[in-house]
Amino acid sequence: MPAKPKILVSSASGKTGLQVSLQLRAKAYPVRAFVRRKDHRSDILERAGAELFVGDQYSLSEMRNAMQGVQRAYQCAPTAPNGLHFNAVFTAAAYEAKVEHIVTLSQWLSSVDHPSLFTREVFLSDILIGMRPEMSVTTVNVGWFAENYLMVLDTAAHLGLFTMPLGDGGVKKNAAPSNEDIARVVVGALTDPAHHIGKTYRPTGPTLLSPDEIAEAMGRALGRRVRYVDISERMMIKSLKTLRPAHYSEAAVTQLAIYSEEYRRGTFAVNAPTDDVLQVGGCEPEALESIVRRRVADQPGLARSLPGSVSAIGRFLKILATRSFDLDHAQMQRDYVRLSSPLYCQEDAAWLERHQTRALQTDPVRIA
Ligand SMILES: NC(=O)c1ccc[n+]([C@@H]2O[C@H](COP(=O)([O-])OP(=O)(O)OC[C@H]3O[C@@H](n4cnc5c(N)ncnc54)[C@H](OP(=O)(O)O)[C@@H]3O)[C@@H](O)[C@H]2O)c1
Repeated sequence: MPAKPKILVSSASGKTGLQVSLQLRAKAYPVRAFVRRKDHRSDILERAGAELFVGDQYSLSEMRNAMQGVQRAYQCAPTAPNGLHFNAVFTAAAYEAKVEHIVTLSQWLSSVDHPSLFTREVFLSDILIGMRPEMSVTTVNVGWFAENYLMVLDTAAHLGLFTMPLGDGGVKKNAAPSNEDIARVVVGALTDPAHHIGKTYRPTGPTLLSPDEIAEAMGRALGRRVRYVDISERMMIKSLKTLRPAHYSEAAVTQLAIYSEEYRRGTFAVNAPTDDVLQVGGCEPEALESIVRRRVADQPGLARSLPGSVSAIGRFLKILATRSFDLDHAQMQRDYVRLSSPLYCQEDAAWLERHQTRALQTDPVRIA
């Protein structure tokens, strides 16, 4: 039997990269996992039999070395500034190394005039990787991850509050996929390129949920009542600034605020859910409740306890005491390229046409 192709996984300690690496190893594919540092996540990768490549994935010299001797690759830019730089480095190195197939992680929001610089950079990256006809690519076009809700699971577990700026609690606005299901679609395309070349997939969860329903799912998994609270953008900024360990830079927070606005506008509900997890990943997509249950099982600190509640109140007070910052000013200070007339996805005729929508407007319709 011919040897299985070796696969390079970028961002291999990240949310999707780790799962992609582990799933590939479970199928006995040789994996080179690009990580920034050795830590408990790289230990997991090594234990699963992945070869570690420790380095800086924004460096072309290092990416060239990482691409040596690999046949396929997963392209995953971190949620951080310089995404276009990362994607250009990855694309150039993959092209030079004549990598036979690439799966690239794009965004459902990817569009030419989007208010988010990160998203416009994803749009340019999508063009860049498709420019050479000899490059074989599958695009995985994800919306808002379920993982984003888990950032505030601690407050749900100890204070019974699901606090996010998602707008009206009764409107169904997202069918969020798990990291594992996103990875299943990536792995499906990496292990069987012939069936997936040139295709775009959008992994989602099984059903659209409203913020109230997300809170209920969390409550069932946590064994307590959880209530959704629609927080202001200012509170979101303060809360993201204090998050540990999933700490986001101020630069990333400016973009996450724009993504929350897309969420409130119902952009992630457009044409969701899909059956791509089943068709490409090979199994039914996970329900949010089971995603939360897995996290609860992994984190004993989420069990209800007096010390847990006291420290959750402490963290909540810390959020209140944390200074917010002005999003526009933060973008200006970083010299972010900004458009005079940016367009959210559902204001953009080209995005609407590409995503073949039944569009939901700023005040989205309720979907029964
Ligand atoms: N979150 C969402 O809802 C969402 C929705 C749609 C699309 N996306 C897309 O998802 C992508 C992010 O994927 P993800 O969430 O799986 O990734 P992620 O969790 O952000 O992971 C990125 C990884 O890259 C590593 N890294 C950062 N700088 C590095 C460097 N210089 N050299 C080597 N490694 C470095 C980080 O290492 P450390 O952990 O050690 O710092 C981290 O493990 C983005 O492109 C975003 O556009 C996200």
